[in-house]
Amino acid sequence: MKILGIETSCDETAASIVENGSAILSNVVVSSLKEHSKYGGIIPEIASRKQLESIDIVVEEALESSKIGLKEVDAIAVTTHPGLIGSLLVGYSFARALSASLNIPLIEVDHIKAHIYANFLFDTKTTNLKDFKRPKLPAVGLVVSGGHTSLYFIKGLNDFKLIGHTLDDAAGEAFDKVARILKLGYPGGPIIDKLSQKIEKAGISFKGAPLEGTLNFSFSGIKTAVLYYYQKHGQEEGFSVEQCAWAFQDSVITTLVKKSLAACKKYNADTLLIGGGVAANSGLRKMLMIESGRMNIDVRYPALSLCIDNAAMIAGYGYHLK
Ligand code: KG4
Ligand code: ZN
Repeated sequence: MKILGIETSCDETAASIVENGSAILSNVVVSSLKEHSKYGGIIPEIASRKQLESIDIVVEEALESSKIGLKEVDAIAVTTHPGLIGSLLVGYSFARALSASLNIPLIEVDHIKAHIYANFLFDTKTTNLKDFKRPKLPAVGLVVSGGHTSLYFIKGLNDFKLIGHTLDDAAGEAFDKVARILKLGYPGGPIIDKLSQKIEKAGISFKGAPLEGTLNFSFSGIKTAVLYYYQKHGQEEGFSVEQCAWAFQDSVITTLVKKSLAACKKYNADTLLIGGGVAANSGLRKMLMIESGRMNIDVRYPALSLCIDNAAMIAGYGYHLK
């Protein structure tokens, strides 16, 4: 079964064809990120206008690159929530009209759960089905993106239980805000990640609220600690932006790793599935590999192109919701 996925929840316009829920035949993503960078965040009106301009071209390219025609599409899966309302409307209206004209089902998909589902996908251009090792369930899922930081206990692909979430900023949002404080540009995650790779340790540390005994997160305190530190020391001669970036990242990823592994222990899960833009963070990947190895937990991350918003995760997850 071939599903056309459509994703327009934030700044991306994305379309993808996925066969039988896991084989990616095409995956096209166009982003308007550059047009937002000078504002330090996404401007919803710019995002939806760009999506309106590019949605038909992106869908056409996804079909062309998968070498299938519209008539071979069996269903359409589309992100319905959460996201920017104007952006979601562009994708949803397009998908709904196309499914009606082709007389095929329209499947509504939750963007956050789809981020975790990205771990169940493989690219047919680089991997054979027989070489693909599907993650085992039950699992704990951690979604770390610009808008969300959530922990799930996943018994089955239709059985997600929310077991923890951020009480204030999302992890990616904290990266973006700290990059803004340090005048590094937008989006902040990849820039802070790169700066942190330049050093092994920092002589400073930033502490957030640990929320001991719960699986919830709080990142706003760490961000404020960086702000106060920068206001006090930012203009001093010995100030190091790398040390600041490293210490901030270390504090965020330590919390993410600690809570995710505590969730695995509490729910007796041997698999940990990570998803969302912050899952691309090299420090997080490294720390999780080391710490999970001690507990014999199978940690999975999607390929970098599937960590960020994409439509393959929508088409793939849609297969299980039809
Ligand atoms: O999942 P995503 O593409 O969009 C949302 O659904 O939000 O995530 C975007 C977020 C941004 O906040 C960005 O700064 C962060 O992911 N991000 C990273 C990295 N790459 C992207 N954060 C930390 N390290 C990275 N390498
Ligand atoms: Zn996302």
